[in-house]
Amino acid sequence: MALTLIHASVGVAQTPSGTPNRDDPVQYGAYVFRAGGCFECHTDTKGKGQPLAGGRGLPTPFGTFYSPNITPDPETGIGRWSEADFVRAMRQGLSPAGENYFPSFPYTAFAKISDADMRALWAYLRAQPPVKQQNKPHDVPFPFNLRMAVWGWKFLYFDGKPMIADAAKSAAWNRGAYLVNALGHCSECHTQRNPLGGLKSDMMFAGSTDGAEGKSVPNITPHPATGIGRWSEKDIADFLGSGMTPEGDFTGGLMGDVIEQSTKYLTAEDRLAMATYLKSLPPIDHRPRKPQ
Ligand code: HEC
Ligand code: HEC
Repeated sequence: MALTLIHASVGVAQTPSGTPNRDDPVQYGAYVFRAGGCFECHTDTKGKGQPLAGGRGLPTPFGTFYSPNITPDPETGIGRWSEADFVRAMRQGLSPAGENYFPSFPYTAFAKISDADMRALWAYLRAQPPVKQQNKPHDVPFPFNLRMAVWGWKFLYFDGKPMIADAAKSAAWNRGAYLVNALGHCSECHTQRNPLGGLKSDMMFAGSTDGAEGKSVPNITPHPATGIGRWSEKDIADFLGSGMTPEGDFTGGLMGDVIEQSTKYLTAEDRLAMATYLKSLPPIDHRPRKPQ
């Protein structure tokens, strides 16, 4: 399959779902990279683009954003960046020139990535082959195209704080919370947004009618009727590994991409930790439907 070739070319095929080796920053970084779903957004898979060279269109209600080239090419990628530039982009949503990134780059989630994982991610990105490919300008109309305006948005919706482990909860729960909220950025699609594009904080994970590409995204809180309350932890972990629902259907589309490019590479233990966390969320009664 074509997808297998892509995996091989980014050097992750050697480390499918084995336990990541934390002593080797590049190999461990490959694991963090998968958990963060960087490949999906930064590779124009449909246009047969090179891994991480950007150019994937991300349609949103505000217009279409195009992901940039994050290979180490010095002219068109991030080859001239220092590690500090990278950390600032990921944690503060700021470019080396001090400009705001649009929140279509999910730095609201990535700000919570641990120091060790951030370092490994940088080591992995540096070790990838450089690709020369110019970035495509975003196709986003005024006023949403203003980087200055993102200051206001950040003030309202971005806290930039690291995650603090909850000592009252199990290690698995804490690991799951980290994978879902910091790396997996699952709420970015699974939560309804307000008209300014901020996540509705009382509706976390309860699904969205205007998810990426304008489709509706299901409720993944444990509500028995409108969420995934009937799924066991194992059902959720299996779904994140294979894309098969407890009813035996296979998911496709955007969630198919998330599984194919990200969660299926995680260890069974990590997928189960994510399930433990999701099952602990407050159930919210909400069935996202597109207005007719
Ligand atoms: C949901 C899609 C999405 C995901 C997932 C994503 N990115 Fe991005 N990223 C973007 C977009 C869009 C931009 C450009 C934002 C802008 O122009 O303001 C961006 C910008 C960047 C930049 C700045 C590049 C530059 O030239 O200024 C870096 C670095 C980056 N992303 C790294 C990552 C890493 C590492 C991951 C995985 C942990 C990741 N991204 C995951 C969409 C994504
Ligand atoms: C790019 C958007 C996107 C992201 C990111 C995303 N999802 Fe999804 N998810 C979807 C869509 C769309 C569906 C519906 C797929 C379908 O109908 O087959 C879905 C379906 C699901 C389902 C099945 C729900 C059901 O009722 O059938 C689960 C569980 C799930 N996602 C968990 C997650 C987790 C955990 C993460 C974070 C690792 C995540 N998703 C990240 C878009 C996304």
